[in-house]
Amino acid sequence: MTARRTTPLRLAALSAESVAAVARARRALGDRRATPNLGWVAALTGGNRRAIGKVLEELEDLIPLEEEIRHRHLAAGRTSYAQIRAPFELYALVRLLRPRHVVEAGVSSGVSSAHFLAALARNRTGRLHSIDLPTRQRTRTLGRGESQVSLPPGLRTGWAVPDRLRGAWDLRIGPSQRHLPALASELDSIGLFLHDDLHTPAHLAFELETVRPKLAPGSVVLADNTLWTGEAFPRFARSVGAPVIRRGRGDLVGLRLPVLPHS
Ligand SMILES: C[S@@+](CC[C@H](N)C(=O)[O-])C[C@H]1O[C@@H](n2cnc3c(N)ncnc32)[C@H](O)[C@@H]1O
Repeated sequence: MTARRTTPLRLAALSAESVAAVARARRALGDRRATPNLGWVAALTGGNRRAIGKVLEELEDLIPLEEEIRHRHLAAGRTSYAQIRAPFELYALVRLLRPRHVVEAGVSSGVSSAHFLAALARNRTGRLHSIDLPTRQRTRTLGRGESQVSLPPGLRTGWAVPDRLRGAWDLRIGPSQRHLPALASELDSIGLFLHDDLHTPAHLAFELETVRPKLAPGSVVLADNTLWTGEAFPRFARSVGAPVIRRGRGDLVGLRLPVLPHS
């Protein structure tokens, strides 16, 4: 896939407050891989360093949430959250874009969902619509060959999301093949879409085509694990006239629908 690769966060480019907040939130979540990529957020939002830095300062307020997510994973026998590596960018994207509707396919424990919801709560507007067909862990402890994203016994999809964030959450359990067309037809617009469920070329192409009619200029579309989905994302990007923006050297990619000069 040819894509614009974005540079990692250059801490020196941010205020001391932003740098400290990022470091503390990352420590609270317990994952060094969650270092945010400033260039990726800038390219997807058109936001400048100052605006992004201000939003990253808010991560200081997310520390209790990050600790809670980490503790919930440890209590469920997960040594790390093992999911999307960009939770802080998801938060920043929603804060900067202020979408009315965020849609995600693929929830698992809800790390991405929790960060979307925290940003929507701070925006004081907008809803998150999530779809998940859970896979279940078969035994008390995660067996060999079982996925980290499977549901631990007794827990439900989104088990790491605290109750206090659930007010703006529309969570639909079942295959996105069934739920996404119905959801898309209910919404008048989708400001941000995240694909993070079944990573096959055909399924990603299906989801992108399903949300396409509800995307508007400036809407952002993200897809994780695109190493497995071939040409589906770049083909869609070409069809909407947007470059594929890759998060550093990873396979989490995004695009922003072109904004017309007069809009
Ligand atoms: C990688 S996890 C999602 C991680 C989450 N986005 C995060 O970053 O915290 C993928 C989830 O998608 C679910 N899934 C797999 N196939 C699906 C389908 N066809 N429709 C909806 N969900 C599906 C899996 O069971 C799993 O819960």
